[in-house]
Amino acid sequence: MTATMITDIGLLVTNDPTLGAGQLGELRDAAILIEDGRVAWVGAAAGSDAVGGASAPAAGAEATGSAAAPPQVLSAGGDCVIPGFVDSHTHLVFGGDRSAEFEARMAGQAYEAGGIRSTVEATRQATDAALRARLRGFIDELLAQGTTTVEVKSGYGLSVPDEERLVRLAAEVTDEVTFLGAHVVPAEYRGRADAYVDLVTGPMLAACAPHARWIDVFCETEAFSVEQARRVLTAGIAAGLLARVHANQLGPGDGVRLAVELSAASVDHCTFLSDDDVAALAESDTVATLLPGVEFSTRQPYPDARRLLDAGVTVALASDCNPGSSFTSSMPFCIALAVSEMGMTAAEAVWSATAGGAAALRRTDVGSLRVGARADLVQLAAPSYNYLAYRPGVPLVRRVWKDGELVRQPLP
Ligand code: NIG
Ligand code: FE
Repeated sequence: MTATMITDIGLLVTNDPTLGAGQLGELRDAAILIEDGRVAWVGAAAGSDAVGGASAPAAGAEATGSAAAPPQVLSAGGDCVIPGFVDSHTHLVFGGDRSAEFEARMAGQAYEAGGIRSTVEATRQATDAALRARLRGFIDELLAQGTTTVEVKSGYGLSVPDEERLVRLAAEVTDEVTFLGAHVVPAEYRGRADAYVDLVTGPMLAACAPHARWIDVFCETEAFSVEQARRVLTAGIAAGLLARVHANQLGPGDGVRLAVELSAASVDHCTFLSDDDVAALAESDTVATLLPGVEFSTRQPYPDARRLLDAGVTVALASDCNPGSSFTSSMPFCIALAVSEMGMTAAEAVWSATAGGAAALRRTDVGSLRVGARADLVQLAAPSYNYLAYRPGVPLVRRVWKDGELVRQPLP
């Protein structure tokens, strides 16, 4: 693969504090060399008097020791470049439409987790081809908005064959596949939640585990109790999956503490937290993933990111893109909400949407731009990442590289 040198980067976010200023490891007037899909070198742009990085390697070989052809040089024209977004929480394999539910909510109706069942019905009726086409469309939509790593959950099948096909389809587009058979109790198991948990932890897990990396459960009064959630997670862990949890979205509960107890990589939503929840998170290696698209789309109070950050909790931001509670796939939109509504600085929000997402997926190869990381980069049509919050709703993603390949470029 040809090497690429991106130069004239006005502001480069590396997320490596040893490379540059602050938590984001910021470098001004920078350049970055991409080789074989990875970051091969980061430093000062040729001809700049930038501090903080070595000068650019001589064209071609020096950076890597190989006798490769000179890199293709591409100017970022003074723009800001950041790591690709890591969206660690989505539900992108589904059929049907719930726009009427959204409309009713905007007219004053409350969000109900039971709406999930209407998507289950539509998903069961959809063909593999229809689900696949829609899923691929979402992946394109994500890339165009700068998301280069995405986690995708099942959870709208809720039968053995349907959950199996959702995780199988998700695995076609990402390595970060989550089995969420315990999303809600399906209609045919109404009043028999424990029998449904038997199905999830038995034949459904056996069918889905080979396609998945993660096990998840919706631990909430309207979905599964903490005891049921513990059964689901421990069965998943025993089958070789890693745990993540939906909890404390609609009200307070013990889901966060269960996630910490089981060393889950992430507990997601975290809207209603007690002081004990925050303290438990702060002492754990469980990431709190906040999903502000949900509060925006359900008119709920936003989670208090400031409280979590001040306590020392690692915070990630994700879209939760799904047809019910948050039908946005835009990480820039989530960053704008986090800054305007949740007390995060733009730097904290960008970190949480990149390195934080990587931590929530226990990944060290994405979310930063240190040497050896995957060359997943976003060039913003802006001089600073602050613009992601300052110019909400504006398409600021100019170019996107995934694994070193330019996958999105400006329209002519
Ligand atoms: O993350 N909380 C549970 N699941 C989704 C909602 C899905 C739906 O309403 O369809 C969520 O918000
Ligand atoms: Fe979710």
